[in-house]
Amino acid sequence: MRFLITGSTGMLGTDLSQALDERGDEVFGVDKGVLDITDTEAVDRFVDEIRPDVIVNCAAYTRVDDCEADEATASKVNGWAVESLADAANRAGSLLVQISTDFVFDGLATRPYEINDPVAPVSAYGRSKLEGEERARIAKRHVILRTSWLFGVRGWNFVEAIRKQILLGRTELRVVDDQRGCPTYTPHLASAVVRLADIVRKSPELGGVYHYSDAPECSWFDFATAIVAEMKREGSADGGARVLPTTSAEFPRPAQRPAYSVLSVDRYRRVTGCSPESWIDGLAEYFAKRPSSALAAG
Ligand SMILES: NC(=O)c1ccc[n+]([C@@H]2O[C@H](COP(=O)([O-])OP(=O)(O)OC[C@H]3O[C@@H](n4cnc5c(N)ncnc54)[C@H](OP(=O)(O)O)[C@@H]3O)[C@@H](O)[C@H]2O)c1
Repeated sequence: MRFLITGSTGMLGTDLSQALDERGDEVFGVDKGVLDITDTEAVDRFVDEIRPDVIVNCAAYTRVDDCEADEATASKVNGWAVESLADAANRAGSLLVQISTDFVFDGLATRPYEINDPVAPVSAYGRSKLEGEERARIAKRHVILRTSWLFGVRGWNFVEAIRKQILLGRTELRVVDDQRGCPTYTPHLASAVVRLADIVRKSPELGGVYHYSDAPECSWFDFATAIVAEMKREGSADGGARVLPTTSAEFPRPAQRPAYSVLSVDRYRRVTGCSPESWIDGLAEYFAKRPSSALAAG
């Protein structure tokens, strides 16, 4: 199949492009320098020319705290721009896969969010991504795939943030223990995207909203503890390094985060027949591909 991947050099875009390349699909991976998704004319020209079977929109303004100070840009990139992708997809007969987020929920739930649960974002980023979902629905054939807590070997992420602190010599890290969600390794998410695209291309009636996150659920404190354990295993952290729990109140950030954002993957499981993969396995693979020595070196 012929895929257009926007934001192709981001964390997910890189792994998705690679997964499709390896499968032998025809991949047009474009990043902002080649195709800025806010340039409607460029989007029209590009899509009309290559007429992809599937457009996967991995482009986004993902700096959650910066979005609070610049909601106009967040809304333009994450929301408004998706409409031109949807319009272009309709003209070309493409399936549009829009990647969305757990941040469309308010985080007050006490059980995993179902796909039809009410949305109520508590941040500018969440509002902009919700706008993107609404505009993606303009595409006759679409998948809106919500996911959470991404980490992948391309780009800056929570794993790197923790590793950097330890490599700089910090022996005690305080990490919030009152936000729960599911870390997701981007190659696992890439596989989920490919699976859903294959299914919905063949059976358009199976389009709509899906959730995919790795398992099991945990807090940021649990995730940081696992990262430091991996560092000890590879010998880049000494035995004394430790992670201590703290609260969101003690660690204020410009953007509010949902306290609980575990996503129910029931529909994904039912439609694909696959269970979510393990972020713990993903973390081990991450360390094998991107050892701490690479970060220490530069
Ligand atoms: N990261 C997470 O924890 C997380 C969690 C849930 C959902 N998501 C969603 O998952 C998707 C992939 O996230 P990611 O972490 O892979 O993001 P990422 O690494 O930040 O990659 C996003 C890419 O989009 C590009 N981009 C930004 N503005 C653009 C524009 N106007 N036109 C074209 N490209 C543009 C960025 O380029 P520059 O870097 O040059 O700006 C970057 O290469 C996004 O939809 C995100 O909202 C992410």
